[in-house]
Amino acid sequence: MATKTGEGFSSSFGAIMAAAGSAVGLGNIWRFPYICGRYGGGAFLLVYICFVFFIGMILMMSEFVIGRRTGEDPVKAYPKLKPERPAWRFVGLIGLITCFLILSIYLVISGWTLNYFYESAVGTLASIQDSDFGVHFNEFASSVWRPVLFIAVFLALTALVVIGGVEKGVERVSKLLMPILVVLIFLLCIRSVTLKGASAGLTYLFHPDFSKLTGEGILAALGQALFSLSVGMGVMIVYGSYLPKDENILKTSIWITVCDFFIAVLAGVAIFPAVFACGQDPTGGPGLVYQVLPVVFNSMGTIGRVFSIIFFLLLTLAALTSAISLLEALTQWLSGEKIKRTMSAIIMSLIVFVLAAAASFSFGDGIWSGFKISGLQIFDFLDKATGTILPPVCALLTIIFFGWVMNKEDIIDELSNHGTIKVGYFKVFYYFLARFVAPVALLVVLVAGIKN
Ligand code: PHE
Repeated sequence: MATKTGEGFSSSFGAIMAAAGSAVGLGNIWRFPYICGRYGGGAFLLVYICFVFFIGMILMMSEFVIGRRTGEDPVKAYPKLKPERPAWRFVGLIGLITCFLILSIYLVISGWTLNYFYESAVGTLASIQDSDFGVHFNEFASSVWRPVLFIAVFLALTALVVIGGVEKGVERVSKLLMPILVVLIFLLCIRSVTLKGASAGLTYLFHPDFSKLTGEGILAALGQALFSLSVGMGVMIVYGSYLPKDENILKTSIWITVCDFFIAVLAGVAIFPAVFACGQDPTGGPGLVYQVLPVVFNSMGTIGRVFSIIFFLLLTLAALTSAISLLEALTQWLSGEKIKRTMSAIIMSLIVFVLAAAASFSFGDGIWSGFKISGLQIFDFLDKATGTILPPVCALLTIIFFGWVMNKEDIIDELSNHGTIKVGYFKVFYYFLARFVAPVALLVVLVAGIKN
């Protein structure tokens, strides 16, 4: 418990659940399947695996090291490690701004999800005709008050957990929700792969079709890998500052990365076979889970309604543990002697609520859809900035700091828990990835993406 407020995770299991809770979210279950579908299924998966394990995982380790070493928020952590170069604090700042922007659209999508959970539970979705789901989604998402109401409810839940504290709020809720989430996703997978005609979906997901994998697809794979692991914006620095001192950072990062990756693949396995079995379009885009899956659930009769409830509950819980980490990062930064934790969480929630409402009003045919920033509606602008631009930039700077600026001895000392655990030749491997492979790959993909 090295942080300024003395807060921290109480156990290794709790720490892993909280960090995995941050990683596993809408990114895995809502975003991964549709992006994977858009850029060629299996081919995208291959590129994604490389980015997750060679870039994302290394970043996670770096952020944990930076966080635990300093026990500080991202803005203070960088200059604390390198006092002679205080300008590095801007990387922490960019990260926090990114968290803020991500949280605003995350809340919009979480609000949709909560609404769909509600509509599954009360039977509204079951009464809609297959051909009307597109219209239903657009009407709802473009309406004024209903999405905002669900955003408010979801945000209130998130804020309550954060106000509860790191151990009694974040850790406790993650320990409870993550195992439930795993059980729910397995249930859905079993149902999906046992449907008639499901194998076409599995082929689609695992058979690489490189013709659909464009340069844009490769950039999307990088953005998705960072987003999904919650790296490149300082959240893992925050959680790193709460890690127990005897936690093995290498092992923990590997566990979380593997877990996050498998949950994304399982989400694909839960969704694509069902989509194919019901003759739906796998390239349905962001609307896949709101417009296509309800058709799949309705085609299963009464049991479909149960699965619909399970699915949207799963998605809501996954979103909750991720939103908690984003709000926690902002709250940790604002809290100090003058502003207490509860007040910080409330202030941050109110500010982010305003932006989330603006993003919601701008979505689709919403009342603010005519308002554009560099040609994009507010929602799309935020989505682009936080999906493909800010996290790779921040990730690149973080990895440069880690590989080239930070003291090598500090890193080894932190990774080996002051020499009590062996890091062996993994050290060399790690250095190679952190100093050369990850920065070069990030730079290339970023430049290519910006040119695009
Ligand atoms: N990793 C989360 C997801 O996959 C999203 C997230 C991004 C959470 C950045 C925290 C920080 O949904």
